[in-house]
Amino acid sequence: MIEGETIVSHLETRRSGGATRDDLMKEAVGLIEAARQDYDWVGIYLLQDGVLVLDNYLGEETEHTRIAVGDGVCGTAVAEDRNLNIPDVNEIENYIACSIGTASELVVLMRTSAGDVVGQLDLDSDRPAAFDEGDERELGVVADWLGRLFDEG
Ligand code: SME
Repeated sequence: MIEGETIVSHLETRRSGGATRDDLMKEAVGLIEAARQDYDWVGIYLLQDGVLVLDNYLGEETEHTRIAVGDGVCGTAVAEDRNLNIPDVNEIENYIACSIGTASELVVLMRTSAGDVVGQLDLDSDRPAAFDEGDERELGVVADWLGRLFDEG
């Protein structure tokens, strides 16, 4: 069970202690990955000039460090401006496999206060249908907090 507010309160404490945005994004990935055993890969992609660029992650090494908007589950989430919960990645035609063991995937978009997408939390699990509405909601709390770190001025 993952609790977004608990993770955010850890992050708030770190921020008060002077942690940078990069530190906080790494910290967030660590806290999320530790929350459940079947979160097998957890990472943050940031949207830079229309391309998703891998910021930091925990799990198997991946060569997919840059994903164009529209490609794969990650790029489709941005193109369609919505979170994507994929219970069976084998059913996705343009799926980009990072690990052959992955069975399900959840992408939760990170937005600024103004609602602009700045990146995403990407989670993979080796278990089919590992993610439910609770995961999406709780990760949404963390993604919203992270997204606001990108507010201008
Ligand atoms: N599966 C993703 C690519 C990223 S890896 O899961 C780390 C996709 O289809 O976009």
